[in-house]
Amino acid sequence: MAETKADGTARKGIVLAGGSGTRLYPITLGLSKQLVPLYDKPMIYYPLSVLMLAGIREIAIITTPEDQDQFRRALGDGGQWGIALTYIVQPAPEGLAQAYLLADDFLAGSPSAMVLGDNIFFGHGLPEMLARADARREGGTVFGYHVADPERYGVVDFDAAGTVRAIVEKPRVPPSSYAVTGLYFLDGTAPERAARITPSARGELEITSLLESYLADGTLDVQRMGRGYAWLDTGTHASLLDAGNFVRTLQERQGLQTGSPDEIAFQKGWIDSAGLRARATKFAKNDYGAYLEALAAGRL
Ligand code: DAU
Repeated sequence: MAETKADGTARKGIVLAGGSGTRLYPITLGLSKQLVPLYDKPMIYYPLSVLMLAGIREIAIITTPEDQDQFRRALGDGGQWGIALTYIVQPAPEGLAQAYLLADDFLAGSPSAMVLGDNIFFGHGLPEMLARADARREGGTVFGYHVADPERYGVVDFDAAGTVRAIVEKPRVPPSSYAVTGLYFLDGTAPERAARITPSARGELEITSLLESYLADGTLDVQRMGRGYAWLDTGTHASLLDAGNFVRTLQERQGLQTGSPDEIAFQKGWIDSAGLRARATKFAKNDYGAYLEALAAGRL
């Protein structure tokens, strides 16, 4: 199933979809944040699509213990998309870097791409950017994105020559306007590095500590994601609605889907037109189903 690379190891994927989602209460009292709708699809479809666009077919979904069943219902075993989904529980939200400890057996030494289940990416050239990150088999690649409010994120500290000096988690005084997005391409050493880091003052295994370990070895590549990309926030009620409206505006204008695992699976040849039609039939009552039917019939 996995697409084996020249060096024999296929990159595996992780979608980190745990956490308490308290900022979206009361919506997330009874529903995982990453299953909340972003216009016409569950939020997790969008980050999952990013991993699929990167050619990754073995993906672990990390959830809270309570929410795992809902994710299984929403996504199944991945067979409908020609991918294999594995479900892993994170007992408590003890930090992003903990994902690599929980996924150690699943990864079994493979390089990985981890995406946060609430991160939405859109932009021309995204597949090529992902392919470049995938091609680097050693070290790590992360993406810096210019934002108006860097203090809310992990922030890149560049020196005068533009070389990355450090990555700082939620600094009170941000050293730059470049936030590190929630998409991390790391080599097979990530779990052993994660095992060596210690919890921060807020009690979490910080992703920035893990990235610092690569930075110290001189093997972290920070790619700037230009302004032609959208990296959207879904952290508040207002930004969630804005992100949904962004997707709706694009899709209605273009007559094309964004963040559709069904479309990507079909375009990659992981499912055939019969497989796509089976999905279209399931959604026959809405525009998403009509879109998949048109795709299967070669009308798009
Ligand atoms: O979105 C990018 C940012 O994500 C990065 O710039 C930061 O460096 C990184 O720490 C993270 O910051 P956040 O403030 O967004 O982290 P948050 O705690 O909100 O967690 C992000 C997502 O990951 C959220 O949907 C919940 C999930 N999560 C979080 C933790 C701490 C888990 O599934 N497990 C966890 O243990």
